[in-house]
Amino acid sequence: MGLLLNDKVAIITGAAKGQGAAAARCFVREGARVVIADIDPAGQSLAEELGPAAAFKTLDVSSGHDWVSCVTFTQSLFGGVDILVNNAGIFWPATLEQTSVELADMHYRVNQLGPLLGMQAVLRPMRVKGGGSIVNIASIGALRGWQNELAYCSSKWALRGLSRCAAVELGREGIRVNTVLPGPIDTSMLGPDGAQYADHVLLGRIGRPNEVAEVVAFVASDRASFMAGAELVVDGGMVA
Ligand SMILES: NC(=O)c1ccc[n+]([C@@H]2O[C@H](COP(=O)([O-])OP(=O)(O)OC[C@H]3O[C@@H](n4cnc5c(N)ncnc54)[C@H](O)[C@@H]3O)[C@@H](O)[C@H]2O)c1
Repeated sequence: MGLLLNDKVAIITGAAKGQGAAAARCFVREGARVVIADIDPAGQSLAEELGPAAAFKTLDVSSGHDWVSCVTFTQSLFGGVDILVNNAGIFWPATLEQTSVELADMHYRVNQLGPLLGMQAVLRPMRVKGGGSIVNIASIGALRGWQNELAYCSSKWALRGLSRCAAVELGREGIRVNTVLPGPIDTSMLGPDGAQYADHVLLGRIGRPNEVAEVVAFVASDRASFMAGAELVVDGGMVA
């Protein structure tokens, strides 16, 4: 059996750092060519580190215009799009009372509208190829209610709904849409106090970015060919 993602072309959003960067590394290791799409120009140095199988493209996921140029860039560089990982996200904790219109709108734009625009943008290239695989990164925040995370969690609940509806719509076209729901993962999103979550995790520790990336790579790949509309919880047992 060859590499998991041999000959696949993937766009991974929010891949300049954290879980997206781990996914970019994992995808290249597994034979894919990857566009690292992020608002953070640090994605450029990751692309240089990964070599000719990777390229950086500036993308604000909430901009339809940016999506068109990202997909055009990917097609002209790598010849198409097989996989989209909607990974970019923001998390600014706030209580209900503290949640301003701006804070709520920002979560909506990045965590919900971004994946919607991304899925729209890759539809045509995936149809040309006769199928594709979309992985949306939600959160265990979309499995129950949590303290001080109202705007974040509600945007991730919406993303779960978005994923399921897209999966239902696109399944017959060979485009599989699945959702990965990470628990606490050691990235800048959790910050320096991330280890405090370890007590609530069955495995007694928080997760490493690559432990999510490996699951994303599998569900994105043809080895998960009968998975559509599925939700994979990668949380060390936290919600169990
Ligand atoms: N770290 C966790 O504990 C955790 C838990 C559950 C879910 N998640 C989800 O996993 C995903 C990855 O998060 P992470 O932990 O790697 O966080 P991170 O903050 O380390 O990385 C997020 C990346 O998204 C990029 N980004 C932010 N806004 C963007 C925009 N408008 N357009 C393009 N890129 C943008 C950032 O520049 C950054 O590179 C997010 O969707 C997050 O909500 C994280």
